[in-house]
Amino acid sequence: MTAHHPCIYLDYAATTPVDPAVIQAMNHCMSFDGSFGNAASVYHPFGWDSAELIDGAKEQVAKLIGAAPSELVFTSGATESINLALKGLALHPDNSKRHIITSATEHKAVLDVCAFLEQKGFSITYLNPDQQGIINKDQVLSAMQDDTLLVSLMHVNNETGVIQNITEIGELCRSKSVLFHVDAAQSAGKLVIDVKHSNIDLLSLSAHKFYGPKGVGALFICRGLPTHLSPMIHGGGHQKGMRSGTLPTQQIVGLGKACEIAMERMDADLNITQAHYDRVVDSVSGLSGVIINGDQDRHYPGILNLSFPGRDSEELMMRLKRFAVSSGSACSSADRKPSHVLLAMGRSADLAHSSLRISFGRYTSEDDVKHLIQALSALFP
Ligand SMILES: Cc1ncc(COP(=O)(O)O)c(C=O)c1O
Repeated sequence: MTAHHPCIYLDYAATTPVDPAVIQAMNHCMSFDGSFGNAASVYHPFGWDSAELIDGAKEQVAKLIGAAPSELVFTSGATESINLALKGLALHPDNSKRHIITSATEHKAVLDVCAFLEQKGFSITYLNPDQQGIINKDQVLSAMQDDTLLVSLMHVNNETGVIQNITEIGELCRSKSVLFHVDAAQSAGKLVIDVKHSNIDLLSLSAHKFYGPKGVGALFICRGLPTHLSPMIHGGGHQKGMRSGTLPTQQIVGLGKACEIAMERMDADLNITQAHYDRVVDSVSGLSGVIINGDQDRHYPGILNLSFPGRDSEELMMRLKRFAVSSGSACSSADRKPSHVLLAMGRSADLAHSSLRISFGRYTSEDDVKHLIQALSALFP
Protein backbone atom coordinates (compact mmCIF):
# COMPACT_ATOMS: atom_id res chain seq x y z
CA MET A 1 0.00 0.00 0.00
CA THR A 2 1.31 3.51 -0.76
CA ALA A 3 0.54 6.84 0.85
CA HIS A 4 -1.39 7.94 -2.23
CA HIS A 5 -3.50 4.86 -2.82
CA PRO A 6 -5.54 3.20 -0.11
CA CYS A 7 -5.30 0.16 -2.32
CA ILE A 8 -2.68 -2.56 -2.80
CA TYR A 9 -1.49 -2.84 -6.40
CA LEU A 10 -1.71 -6.43 -7.65
CA ASP A 11 -2.26 -5.76 -11.35
CA TYR A 12 1.32 -5.82 -12.69
CA ALA A 13 0.23 -7.75 -15.79
CA ALA A 14 -1.84 -4.71 -16.81
CA THR A 15 1.06 -2.33 -16.34
CA THR A 16 3.92 -1.51 -14.00
CA PRO A 17 5.13 1.69 -12.35
CA VAL A 18 8.25 3.17 -13.91
CA ASP A 19 11.53 2.43 -12.10
CA PRO A 20 13.00 5.65 -10.59
CA ALA A 21 16.32 5.04 -12.41
CA VAL A 22 14.36 4.83 -15.68
CA ILE A 23 12.63 8.15 -14.91
CA GLN A 24 16.00 9.73 -14.20
CA ALA A 25 17.43 8.51 -17.52
CA MET A 26 14.32 9.77 -19.34
CA ASN A 27 14.41 13.19 -17.68
CA HIS A 28 17.88 13.77 -19.08
CA CYS A 29 16.46 13.54 -22.62
CA MET A 30 13.90 16.32 -22.43
CA SER A 31 15.19 19.67 -21.15
CA PHE A 32 17.41 22.29 -22.81
CA ASP A 33 20.37 21.35 -20.64
CA GLY A 34 19.93 17.67 -21.51
CA SER A 35 19.85 15.61 -24.73
CA PHE A 36 16.65 16.95 -26.26
CA GLY A 37 17.86 17.03 -29.89
CA ASN A 38 16.28 15.22 -32.81
CA ALA A 39 18.30 12.09 -33.53
CA ALA A 40 17.71 12.70 -37.24
CA SER A 41 19.50 16.10 -37.07
CA VAL A 42 22.80 14.93 -38.48
CA TYR A 43 24.50 18.34 -38.78
CA HIS A 44 24.92 19.34 -35.14
CA PRO A 45 25.85 17.90 -31.75
CA PHE A 46 22.30 18.14 -30.34
CA GLY A 47 21.23 15.54 -32.88
CA TRP A 48 24.40 13.48 -32.43
CA ASP A 49 23.84 13.36 -28.67
CA SER A 50 20.35 11.91 -29.06
CA ALA A 51 21.44 9.50 -31.79
CA GLU A 52 24.16 8.22 -29.48
CA LEU A 53 21.67 7.68 -26.64
CA ILE A 54 19.33 5.84 -29.00
CA ASP A 55 22.17 3.60 -30.19
CA GLY A 56 22.97 2.83 -26.54
CA ALA A 57 19.34 1.95 -25.82
CA LYS A 58 19.24 -0.29 -28.88
CA GLU A 59 22.19 -2.22 -27.49
CA GLN A 60 20.47 -2.62 -24.13
CA VAL A 61 17.28 -3.95 -25.75
CA ALA A 62 19.26 -6.22 -28.08
CA LYS A 63 21.19 -7.68 -25.15
CA LEU A 64 18.00 -8.53 -23.27
CA ILE A 65 16.79 -10.84 -26.05
CA GLY A 66 20.06 -11.97 -27.65
CA ALA A 67 19.56 -9.93 -30.84
CA ALA A 68 21.84 -7.60 -32.77
CA PRO A 69 21.03 -3.88 -32.36
CA SER A 70 20.46 -3.58 -36.13
CA GLU A 71 17.62 -6.10 -35.85
CA LEU A 72 15.37 -3.78 -33.79
CA VAL A 73 12.68 -1.30 -34.75
CA PHE A 74 11.26 0.98 -32.06
CA THR A 75 7.48 1.26 -31.93
CA SER A 76 4.81 2.65 -29.60
CA GLY A 77 4.38 -0.69 -27.81
CA ALA A 78 3.57 -4.35 -28.32
CA THR A 79 0.29 -3.66 -30.16
CA GLU A 80 2.10 -1.69 -32.84
CA SER A 81 4.97 -4.21 -33.02
CA ILE A 82 2.46 -7.03 -33.54
CA ASN A 83 0.64 -5.04 -36.25
CA LEU A 84 3.93 -4.36 -38.02
CA ALA A 85 5.04 -7.99 -37.77
CA LEU A 86 1.82 -9.66 -38.93
CA LYS A 87 0.38 -7.13 -41.37
CA GLY A 88 3.85 -6.06 -42.50
CA LEU A 89 4.69 -9.61 -43.55
CA ALA A 90 1.29 -10.67 -44.83
CA LEU A 91 0.61 -7.56 -46.89
CA HIS A 92 4.05 -7.22 -48.47
CA PRO A 93 3.65 -7.33 -52.26
CA ASP A 94 6.25 -10.12 -52.58
CA ASN A 95 4.34 -12.39 -50.20
CA SER A 96 2.15 -14.97 -51.90
CA LYS A 97 1.44 -17.15 -48.85
CA ARG A 98 -2.06 -16.88 -47.42
CA HIS A 99 -2.16 -18.97 -44.24
CA ILE A 100 -1.29 -18.01 -40.65
CA ILE A 101 -1.32 -20.17 -37.51
CA THR A 102 -1.96 -18.69 -34.09
CA SER A 103 -3.76 -19.69 -30.90
CA ALA A 104 -7.19 -18.92 -29.46
CA THR A 105 -5.55 -17.69 -26.25
CA GLU A 106 -3.57 -14.83 -27.80
CA HIS A 107 -4.00 -11.22 -26.73
CA LYS A 108 -6.51 -9.18 -28.75
CA ALA A 109 -3.57 -7.36 -30.31
CA VAL A 110 -2.87 -10.58 -32.24
CA LEU A 111 -6.45 -11.86 -32.59
CA ASP A 112 -7.78 -8.57 -33.98
CA VAL A 113 -4.94 -8.28 -36.49
CA CYS A 114 -5.68 -11.85 -37.59
CA ALA A 115 -9.39 -11.01 -37.95
CA PHE A 116 -8.41 -8.03 -40.11
CA LEU A 117 -6.20 -10.25 -42.28
CA GLU A 118 -9.06 -12.74 -42.63
CA GLN A 119 -11.12 -9.93 -44.16
CA LYS A 120 -8.25 -9.38 -46.59
CA GLY A 121 -8.50 -13.00 -47.76
CA PHE A 122 -5.99 -14.73 -45.47
CA SER A 123 -6.94 -17.96 -43.77
CA ILE A 124 -6.14 -18.25 -40.08
CA THR A 125 -5.91 -21.39 -37.95
CA TYR A 126 -6.67 -20.70 -34.28
CA LEU A 127 -5.21 -23.55 -32.26
CA ASN A 128 -6.99 -24.48 -29.04
CA PRO A 129 -4.70 -25.25 -26.11
CA ASP A 130 -5.16 -28.18 -23.75
CA GLN A 131 -7.01 -27.63 -20.47
CA GLN A 132 -3.85 -26.25 -18.91
CA GLY A 133 -3.43 -23.63 -21.64
CA ILE A 134 -0.54 -25.32 -23.47
CA ILE A 135 -0.20 -25.49 -27.26
CA ASN A 136 1.89 -28.46 -28.27
CA LYS A 137 4.31 -28.76 -31.16
CA ASP A 138 2.34 -31.52 -32.91
CA GLN A 139 -0.75 -29.31 -33.14
CA VAL A 140 1.34 -26.65 -34.85
CA LEU A 141 2.86 -29.24 -37.18
CA SER A 142 -0.50 -30.67 -38.23
CA ALA A 143 -1.89 -27.17 -38.90
CA MET A 144 0.94 -26.33 -41.30
CA GLN A 145 0.11 -26.08 -45.00
CA ASP A 146 2.15 -25.42 -48.12
CA ASP A 147 1.21 -21.76 -48.02
CA THR A 148 1.69 -21.18 -44.28
CA LEU A 149 3.50 -17.88 -43.93
CA LEU A 150 3.74 -17.54 -40.20
CA VAL A 151 3.13 -19.00 -36.76
CA SER A 152 2.37 -16.35 -34.11
CA LEU A 153 2.29 -17.40 -30.47
CA MET A 154 2.64 -15.63 -27.17
CA HIS A 155 5.43 -16.53 -24.76
CA VAL A 156 3.60 -15.86 -21.47
CA ASN A 157 -0.19 -15.60 -21.41
CA ASN A 158 -1.37 -12.32 -19.91
CA GLU A 159 -4.36 -13.86 -18.11
CA THR A 160 -2.97 -17.15 -16.79
CA GLY A 161 0.83 -16.80 -16.81
CA VAL A 162 1.14 -20.04 -18.82
CA ILE A 163 4.47 -20.26 -20.69
CA GLN A 164 4.42 -21.70 -24.20
CA ASN A 165 7.36 -23.81 -25.33
CA ILE A 166 8.61 -21.29 -27.84
CA THR A 167 11.99 -22.98 -28.30
CA GLU A 168 10.43 -26.28 -29.37
CA ILE A 169 7.94 -24.53 -31.68
CA GLY A 170 10.66 -22.23 -33.04
CA GLU A 171 12.74 -25.24 -34.00
CA LEU A 172 9.77 -26.80 -35.77
CA CYS A 173 8.99 -23.58 -37.67
CA ARG A 174 12.61 -23.17 -38.78
CA SER A 175 12.74 -26.80 -39.98
CA LYS A 176 9.60 -26.20 -42.08
CA SER A 177 10.70 -22.76 -43.35
CA VAL A 178 7.68 -21.13 -41.69
CA LEU A 179 8.31 -17.77 -40.01
CA PHE A 180 7.81 -17.52 -36.24
CA HIS A 181 6.54 -14.44 -34.37
CA VAL A 182 6.50 -14.35 -30.57
CA ASP A 183 4.39 -11.91 -28.55
CA ALA A 184 6.72 -11.42 -25.60
CA ALA A 185 4.81 -8.52 -24.01
CA GLN A 186 4.42 -10.45 -20.73
CA SER A 187 7.80 -12.18 -20.67
CA ALA A 188 10.37 -9.65 -21.87
CA GLY A 189 12.40 -8.44 -18.92
CA LYS A 190 11.02 -11.20 -16.70
CA LEU A 191 12.18 -14.47 -18.27
CA VAL A 192 15.31 -15.28 -20.26
CA ILE A 193 14.71 -14.89 -24.00
CA ASP A 194 17.27 -15.78 -26.64
CA VAL A 195 15.87 -15.15 -30.11
CA LYS A 196 18.70 -17.02 -31.83
CA HIS A 197 18.56 -20.09 -29.62
CA SER A 198 14.74 -20.22 -29.93
CA ASN A 199 14.77 -19.67 -33.73
CA ILE A 200 12.50 -16.64 -33.44
CA ASP A 201 12.13 -14.50 -36.57
CA LEU A 202 10.04 -11.69 -35.09
CA LEU A 203 9.42 -10.72 -31.47
CA SER A 204 7.23 -7.99 -29.96
CA LEU A 205 7.86 -6.36 -26.58
CA SER A 206 6.62 -3.38 -24.61
CA ALA A 207 8.40 -1.25 -21.98
CA HIS A 208 5.43 -0.60 -19.68
CA LYS A 209 5.14 -4.26 -18.73
CA PHE A 210 8.58 -4.24 -17.12
CA TYR A 211 9.02 -0.92 -15.30
CA GLY A 212 9.58 1.22 -18.37
CA PRO A 213 7.31 3.96 -19.73
CA LYS A 214 4.05 3.45 -21.60
CA GLY A 215 4.03 4.23 -25.29
CA VAL A 216 7.25 2.54 -26.38
CA GLY A 217 8.19 -0.96 -27.45
CA ALA A 218 10.24 -2.75 -30.03
CA LEU A 219 9.94 -5.29 -32.80
CA PHE A 220 12.85 -7.66 -33.36
CA ILE A 221 13.18 -8.55 -37.04
CA CYS A 222 15.71 -11.30 -37.67
CA ARG A 223 18.39 -10.31 -40.17
CA GLY A 224 18.07 -12.05 -43.53
CA LEU A 225 14.34 -12.89 -43.33
CA PRO A 226 13.31 -14.50 -46.62
CA THR A 227 10.22 -12.26 -46.74
CA HIS A 228 10.24 -8.48 -46.41
CA LEU A 229 7.93 -6.41 -44.21
CA SER A 230 5.83 -3.51 -45.43
CA PRO A 231 5.99 -0.53 -43.08
CA MET A 232 2.72 0.45 -41.43
CA ILE A 233 3.69 4.09 -40.79
CA HIS A 234 5.13 6.07 -43.69
CA GLY A 235 6.88 9.39 -43.41
CA GLY A 236 10.44 10.65 -43.21
CA GLY A 237 12.05 7.26 -43.68
CA HIS A 238 13.27 6.93 -40.10
CA GLN A 239 14.44 3.51 -38.89
CA LYS A 240 15.42 2.45 -42.42
CA GLY A 241 11.90 3.24 -43.58
CA MET A 242 10.38 0.52 -41.34
CA ARG A 243 8.69 3.00 -39.00
CA SER A 244 8.76 6.68 -39.76
CA GLY A 245 8.41 9.42 -37.17
CA THR A 246 10.86 11.37 -35.02
CA LEU A 247 12.33 8.97 -32.53
CA PRO A 248 11.10 9.74 -28.98
CA THR A 249 14.52 9.78 -27.34
CA GLN A 250 13.22 9.82 -23.77
CA GLN A 251 10.89 6.86 -24.37
CA ILE A 252 13.57 4.81 -26.09
CA VAL A 253 16.16 5.62 -23.43
CA GLY A 254 13.57 4.59 -20.82
CA LEU A 255 12.99 1.29 -22.59
CA GLY A 256 16.76 0.68 -22.79
CA LYS A 257 17.29 1.44 -19.10
CA ALA A 258 14.36 -0.83 -18.15
CA CYS A 259 16.03 -3.64 -20.14
CA GLU A 260 19.36 -3.07 -18.40
CA ILE A 261 17.75 -3.13 -14.95
CA ALA A 262 15.65 -6.18 -15.88
CA MET A 263 18.79 -8.12 -16.81
CA GLU A 264 20.47 -7.24 -13.52
CA ARG A 265 17.42 -8.09 -11.43
CA MET A 266 15.85 -10.94 -13.37
CA ASP A 267 16.86 -13.79 -11.04
CA ALA A 268 16.16 -11.85 -7.84
CA ASP A 269 12.79 -10.57 -9.13
CA LEU A 270 11.77 -14.05 -10.23
CA ASN A 271 12.72 -15.64 -6.89
CA ILE A 272 10.76 -13.10 -4.86
CA THR A 273 7.77 -13.34 -7.20
CA GLN A 274 7.85 -17.12 -6.95
CA ALA A 275 7.85 -16.88 -3.14
CA HIS A 276 4.78 -14.58 -3.19
CA TYR A 277 3.02 -16.88 -5.65
CA ASP A 278 3.76 -20.00 -3.60
CA ARG A 279 2.43 -18.40 -0.40
CA VAL A 280 -0.85 -17.39 -2.02
CA VAL A 281 -1.29 -20.70 -3.85
CA ASP A 282 -0.60 -22.58 -0.61
CA SER A 283 -3.28 -20.64 1.21
CA VAL A 284 -5.95 -20.77 -1.53
CA SER A 285 -5.56 -24.49 -2.04
CA GLY A 286 -7.07 -24.81 1.42
CA LEU A 287 -10.17 -22.84 0.40
CA SER A 288 -13.01 -25.00 -0.75
CA GLY A 289 -13.61 -25.20 -4.48
CA VAL A 290 -11.03 -22.61 -5.61
CA ILE A 291 -9.49 -23.55 -8.96
CA ILE A 292 -6.09 -22.36 -10.15
CA ASN A 293 -6.24 -21.85 -13.91
CA GLY A 294 -3.27 -22.68 -16.09
CA ASP A 295 -0.43 -25.15 -16.15
CA GLN A 296 1.50 -25.00 -12.89
CA ASP A 297 4.78 -26.37 -14.24
CA ARG A 298 5.12 -24.14 -17.28
CA HIS A 299 4.09 -20.95 -15.56
CA TYR A 300 5.34 -17.42 -14.84
CA PRO A 301 4.72 -16.79 -11.11
CA GLY A 302 3.87 -13.09 -11.54
CA ILE A 303 0.37 -14.03 -12.72
CA LEU A 304 -2.16 -16.02 -10.71
CA ASN A 305 -5.57 -16.80 -12.21
CA LEU A 306 -8.19 -18.18 -9.83
CA SER A 307 -11.77 -19.31 -10.36
CA PHE A 308 -14.24 -19.25 -7.47
CA PRO A 309 -17.06 -21.56 -8.60
CA GLY A 310 -20.53 -20.19 -7.88
CA ARG A 311 -19.23 -16.65 -7.31
CA ASP A 312 -19.15 -13.69 -9.66
CA SER A 313 -15.88 -11.89 -10.35
CA GLU A 314 -17.50 -8.46 -10.03
CA GLU A 315 -18.84 -9.35 -6.61
CA LEU A 316 -15.44 -10.74 -5.64
CA MET A 317 -13.69 -7.57 -6.78
CA MET A 318 -16.13 -5.47 -4.75
CA ARG A 319 -15.28 -7.51 -1.69
CA LEU A 320 -11.57 -7.21 -2.47
CA LYS A 321 -11.69 -3.51 -3.17
CA ARG A 322 -8.60 -2.79 -1.10
CA PHE A 323 -6.73 -4.64 -3.84
CA ALA A 324 -6.18 -3.59 -7.44
CA VAL A 325 -6.78 -6.90 -9.21
CA SER A 326 -8.43 -7.74 -12.49
CA SER A 327 -11.11 -10.04 -13.81
CA GLY A 328 -9.57 -11.68 -16.84
CA SER A 329 -7.51 -9.26 -18.92
CA ALA A 330 -7.73 -5.52 -18.36
CA CYS A 331 -8.74 -4.91 -21.96
CA SER A 332 -11.75 -7.21 -21.88
CA SER A 333 -12.95 -6.54 -18.36
CA ALA A 334 -15.06 -3.54 -19.44
CA ASP A 335 -17.34 -5.54 -21.71
CA ARG A 336 -18.15 -8.38 -19.28
CA LYS A 337 -17.61 -11.09 -21.85
CA PRO A 338 -16.23 -14.25 -20.30
CA SER A 339 -12.49 -14.54 -20.84
CA HIS A 340 -11.73 -15.98 -24.28
CA VAL A 341 -8.59 -17.50 -22.79
CA LEU A 342 -10.43 -19.51 -20.13
CA LEU A 343 -13.13 -20.54 -22.62
CA ALA A 344 -10.45 -21.80 -25.03
CA MET A 345 -9.01 -23.84 -22.15
CA GLY A 346 -12.37 -25.60 -21.87
CA ARG A 347 -13.69 -23.72 -18.83
CA SER A 348 -17.44 -23.00 -18.76
CA ALA A 349 -18.69 -19.41 -19.16
CA ASP A 350 -19.82 -19.52 -15.50
CA LEU A 351 -16.39 -20.52 -14.31
CA ALA A 352 -14.79 -17.89 -16.53
CA HIS A 353 -17.12 -15.28 -15.00
CA SER A 354 -15.97 -16.29 -11.55
CA SER A 355 -12.26 -15.73 -12.17
CA LEU A 356 -9.78 -13.17 -10.92
CA ARG A 357 -6.31 -12.33 -12.14
CA ILE A 358 -3.88 -11.34 -9.42
CA SER A 359 -0.46 -10.24 -10.61
CA PHE A 360 2.65 -9.58 -8.54
CA GLY A 361 5.69 -7.49 -9.29
CA ARG A 362 8.84 -5.77 -8.12
CA TYR A 363 7.13 -3.60 -5.51
CA THR A 364 4.88 -6.30 -4.01
CA SER A 365 5.79 -6.71 -0.34
CA GLU A 366 5.36 -9.64 2.00
CA ASP A 367 2.81 -7.53 3.87
CA ASP A 368 0.80 -7.03 0.66
CA VAL A 369 0.72 -10.80 0.22
CA LYS A 370 -0.25 -11.33 3.86
CA HIS A 371 -3.18 -8.90 3.52
CA LEU A 372 -4.26 -10.58 0.30
CA ILE A 373 -4.25 -14.02 1.88
CA GLN A 374 -6.36 -12.74 4.81
CA ALA A 375 -8.83 -11.10 2.41
CA LEU A 376 -9.13 -14.22 0.23
CA SER A 377 -9.78 -16.38 3.30
CA ALA A 378 -12.44 -13.91 4.47
CA LEU A 379 -14.37 -14.58 1.25
CA PHE A 380 -15.09 -18.03 2.71
CA PRO A 381 -16.78 -17.45 6.05
C1 LIG B 1 0.33 -10.58 -24.20
C2 LIG B 1 0.15 -9.14 -24.58
N1 LIG B 1 0.32 -8.78 -25.86
C3 LIG B 1 0.19 -7.50 -26.25
C4 LIG B 1 -0.13 -6.50 -25.36
C5 LIG B 1 -0.27 -5.09 -25.85
O1 LIG B 1 0.82 -4.32 -25.40
P1 LIG B 1 0.85 -2.74 -25.45
O2 LIG B 1 0.07 -2.27 -24.28
O3 LIG B 1 2.31 -2.39 -25.33
O4 LIG B 1 0.30 -2.31 -26.75
C6 LIG B 1 -0.30 -6.84 -24.02
C7 LIG B 1 -0.66 -5.81 -23.01
O5 LIG B 1 -1.78 -5.53 -22.69
C8 LIG B 1 -0.17 -8.19 -23.62
O6 LIG B 1 -0.36 -8.56 -22.35
